[in-house]
Amino acid sequence: MTTHWHITSWMIGIIVFFAAYAMYKNRNPKAKIVHMIDRLMYIVIIVTGFLLYVPVMKYGSGTDHMWYGFKMLAGIWVIGSMEMVLIRTSKGKSTNGAWIQFVIAILVVLYLGLRLPQGWHPFA
Ligand code: HEM
Repeated sequence: MTTHWHITSWMIGIIVFFAAYAMYKNRNPKAKIVHMIDRLMYIVIIVTGFLLYVPVMKYGSGTDHMWYGFKMLAGIWVIGSMEMVLIRTSKGKSTNGAWIQFVIAILVVLYLGLRLPQGWHPFA
């Protein structure tokens, strides 16, 4: 159940991220509003991600805590890189480094999320 909310929230978050990016690029003044909506999605992503960690705090064993810790850091890193892309685009600065981070962080987070045992886990 929580997995569904988590997946839905990060999917919407990423779609809204691309929308805000395109709007900043086109100097659309409404980009700021879309960016704020994306920031609300970050909160939902973090809260639902944290809720997925709650049972692990109780029942986790072995290396669970470490892997969940990495998953959560990588998730925060994706959000941080999206924020860097948007802010730098809005200021007209170079976004290459931020995009590289976004791609790496997404790959890491998808791997970790799909390796961990809850929900779908093709790499576990
Ligand atoms: C845009 C950012 C994020 C993306 C793309 C993402 C992606 C994913 C994916 C693909 C899964 C696996 C879902 C499944 O098993 O079907 C997952 C699970 C999870 N995510 Fe995220 N996530 C993000 C952010 C976060 C954040 C910020 C946190 C922590 C606060 C977090 C914590 C978790 C936890 C604890 C799980 C459960 C892992 C498991 O036991 O299977 N995620 N996430």
